[in-house]
Amino acid sequence: MLPCHRLLTVLLITVTASATASGNTLRGCPATCGNVSIPYPFGIGPNCSFPAPGFELSCNDTGNGVYKPFLIDVEFINISLQAAQARIYNYISWQCYNATYANVSSSTWYINFTDNPFRLSDIDNKFTVVGCDTLAYIRAQNHNDIVFESACGSGCSKENLKNGSCSGKGCCQTSIPKGINYYDVGFDDEFNNSWVWEFNPCSYAVLADADWFKFSTAYITTRELNETNGGRAPMVLDWAIGNQTCEVAQRNTTSYACFSKHSDCFNSTNGPGYLCSCSSGYQGNPYLPNGCEDINECDLKEEYPCNGICTNTDGGYNCTCPTGTKGDPKNGTCNSDHSNLSTSVKLVIGIVTTTSFALLLLLCIVVYMVHERRKLTRIKEEYFRRHGGRLLLEEIKSKQGLAFKVFTKEELKQATNNFDKSRILGGGGHGTVYKGILDDNHAVAIKKSKLIDDHQKKEFGKEMVILSQINHRNVVKLLGCCLEVEVPMLVYEFVSNGTLFELIHDRNRTSHISLDTRLEIALHSAEALAYLHSSASPPILHGDVKSSNILLDDNYNVKVSDFGASMFVPKDETQFATLVQGTCGYLDPEYLQTCQLTDKSDVYSFGVVLLELLTGKKAIYFEGFDEERKLIQDVAELVRRCLNVRGEDRPAMKEVADELDRLRKCKQHPFLQHNPEEIESSLGKSSSYNEK
Ligand SMILES: *[C@@H]1O[C@H](CO)[C@@H](O)[C@H](O)[C@H]1NC(C)=O
Ligand SMILES: *[C@@H]1O[C@H](CO)[C@@H](O)[C@H](O)[C@H]1NC(C)=O
Ligand SMILES: *[C@@H]1O[C@H](CO)[C@@H](O)[C@H](O)[C@H]1NC(C)=O
Ligand SMILES: *[C@@H]1O[C@H](CO)[C@@H](O)[C@H](O)[C@H]1NC(C)=O
Ligand SMILES: *[C@@H]1O[C@H](CO)[C@@H](O)[C@H](O)[C@H]1NC(C)=O
Ligand SMILES: *[C@@H]1O[C@H](CO)[C@@H](O)[C@H](O)[C@H]1NC(C)=O
Ligand SMILES: *[C@@H]1O[C@H](CO)[C@@H](O)[C@H](O)[C@H]1NC(C)=O
Ligand SMILES: *[C@@H]1O[C@H](CO)[C@@H](O)[C@H](O)[C@H]1NC(C)=O
Ligand SMILES: *[C@@H]1O[C@H](CO)[C@@H](O)[C@H](O)[C@H]1NC(C)=O
Ligand SMILES: *[C@@H]1O[C@H](CO)[C@@H](O)[C@H](O)[C@H]1NC(C)=O
Ligand SMILES: *[C@@H]1O[C@H](CO)[C@@H](O)[C@H](O)[C@H]1NC(C)=O
Ligand SMILES: *[C@@H]1O[C@H](CO)[C@@H](O)[C@H](O)[C@H]1NC(C)=O
Repeated sequence: MLPCHRLLTVLLITVTASATASGNTLRGCPATCGNVSIPYPFGIGPNCSFPAPGFELSCNDTGNGVYKPFLIDVEFINISLQAAQARIYNYISWQCYNATYANVSSSTWYINFTDNPFRLSDIDNKFTVVGCDTLAYIRAQNHNDIVFESACGSGCSKENLKNGSCSGKGCCQTSIPKGINYYDVGFDDEFNNSWVWEFNPCSYAVLADADWFKFSTAYITTRELNETNGGRAPMVLDWAIGNQTCEVAQRNTTSYACFSKHSDCFNSTNGPGYLCSCSSGYQGNPYLPNGCEDINECDLKEEYPCNGICTNTDGGYNCTCPTGTKGDPKNGTCNSDHSNLSTSVKLVIGIVTTTSFALLLLLCIVVYMVHERRKLTRIKEEYFRRHGGRLLLEEIKSKQGLAFKVFTKEELKQATNNFDKSRILGGGGHGTVYKGILDDNHAVAIKKSKLIDDHQKKEFGKEMVILSQINHRNVVKLLGCCLEVEVPMLVYEFVSNGTLFELIHDRNRTSHISLDTRLEIALHSAEALAYLHSSASPPILHGDVKSSNILLDDNYNVKVSDFGASMFVPKDETQFATLVQGTCGYLDPEYLQTCQLTDKSDVYSFGVVLLELLTGKKAIYFEGFDEERKLIQDVAELVRRCLNVRGEDRPAMKEVADELDRLRKCKQHPFLQHNPEEIESSLGKSSSYNEK
């Protein structure tokens, strides 16, 4: 028979062993279900899990003795303590059609995790929709019952499908917000696959692990997507304890989950609630009593290096050099102590070491700097090449006297005070315009475009050559460009007095413009556009004619600007592409129908500018105006012709210019001159003559 104290020791050892052996569960509770390990706070069966709804899972026989963990009907694939995540199978919603599509069959699913610890991971999941004529809705709800709704649609033809990418062609993905614990799916009946049912019989929609989903064209033509995992897709869940913050939860010691020694609390990052983790230097299960154990760092040389004497401590470790040596054994090594050498020898060694070290360092820095500089130059040269810089340089060389400069990035940075916000003149759909001061004190306008695509990049140099040759006193002059950056920058002459839009609509200014000035502005704008249409080679369509693109200098001289949307009249139809970005209120209605930009589109937009100029009303809010006087009637007639819905019926820009010129001369006619007040006051409030 064992002596009493021996028995006690044996018992104690057994107890300690059983508390740590299974490690991840309460004593007497199953650690796994089938192949899935179930760490506490989750558990199988009563009294095995954290006492809150949703932590107790059941381990069900799914047939043939294969056991799998479930929360009611949701199957769990695995559970992670460190990531505070779980992976489940989520049913795929679908909708199928046949030739008559008279009888559409469908099945839509929802998941409801209200009142349990799970919420749908906003980072790992994407709402994924597969189909060729499909629009699916996702409706989700968070812990505060706030509803989030989104839709994802995709269309495609049999030819443009591509494996691997979910790019909107046959496949569409969208994200969900944080804190979601409920979601359901619906399909839009308007998208009933009637065009595509022959090769795309079914559409699918599911919130699923984005890493798992790889688009395959077979998902469109077959039912393959729905055939793995019994019509289900893996989805990632985040989980947390309760719905309180750490500080609040801590107050109730009986329900607090991070009560264990060396267990720290942190707030959930996806919805309410908190989580536990072992303090640094400890590892294990932070939810179990004594779950966090000291890490023996001395056994883990890889993660905790020690080139000296290693001593494990509670929550850390000591690493010291053996006596007689010195150094930093955690990072470097211990070296024999020089304390026996005379101080002068030590000093010499010190100086030599320091000097050589310094020299080495210097060498390294020099080598590094040279390398970086070369890298930068290479990148700049690459951009330069891509933007057609070589072509441009050759062209410039061949055309001596072409006043066009290729600027370096440094020059433009300096000119704009490093693209300072205070230098911004304006911005819009195409990019931002800065005011720059060059070395010779010349003011310029520098346009920094938004990203452009590869095709446009190649064309850029060529376009520059053509634009740089435009030489008309009423077209803003392109002085140069910078090609060393990813998106090329353009340098234009600086026009000092704002835009026509400001002139018309800024109350403080309008009172001073006479009808004469207005007509002159109209004439010069028309001349500039006529020049672009008929004298430039190749002809150029402006594409975005509007009052804010007509700049004025101090003498109200017109400078037509912003070729952001401009394009050369193309040789073949296919070149009519995506460049056009007109402005609401000015956009040619015919263009909206045909998607073809023509010179007559500019005429339409110019017609709107004319009306704006004469009525002082903004293009969008435009009302009628008094037609009492002949001149006004004539201008209105011109406007009417410009604004003809059919492009064919509109006059050419040259005609418009000629007509305006005629009208301006007419204005000097005595009949009109004898009472300018009346004419001008009929222009509305903007005339100074109203003041008397
Ligand atoms: C467990 O995993 C093994 C091998 O990975 C596999 O053969 C077995 O079918 C799995 N069992 C269950 C219940 O999933
Ligand atoms: C679970 O615990 C409660 C109280 O702690 C106890 O009454 C009950 O019998 C336990 N159930 C099982 C199956 O052990
Ligand atoms: C698994 O078993 C539990 C308890 O018996 C039951 O409530 C649940 O519905 C079962 N789940 C499935 C998918 O059979
Ligand atoms: C859970 O399963 C996924 C996919 O099967 C796997 O990538 C992940 O590493 C697993 N996580 C854990 C904690 O086992
Ligand atoms: C379409 O489905 C309906 C109902 O299932 C069926 O009656 C009809 O014959 C089907 N049409 C074709 C062309 O398969
Ligand atoms: C989700 O389930 C809870 C009960 O667990 C219920 O009160 C709630 O109405 C359900 N939500 C929806 C949208 O069905
Ligand atoms: C998807 O799979 C489920 C389960 O196997 C099945 O019931 C459903 O009919 C399938 N749907 C389609 C469109 O194949
Ligand atoms: C927090 O959880 C408790 C218990 O589960 C519940 O009674 C309470 O309504 C929840 N509070 C909020 C704000 O969700
Ligand atoms: C603390 O939590 C326990 C278990 O959830 C609960 O029964 C008790 O009422 C709570 N105490 C307080 C003061 O909230
Ligand atoms: C938890 O969140 C609350 C409220 O946002 C905050 O005051 C607290 O500092 C957070 N606690 C931790 C441990 O991050
Ligand atoms: C660890 O090192 C510190 C000082 O470096 C010393 O105070 C402490 O006693 C050492 N602990 C052990 C366990 O050696
Ligand atoms: C080891 O080197 C790293 C940087 O390389 C430094 O952050 C750390 O403090 C060093 N450790 C010791 C013990 O000196």
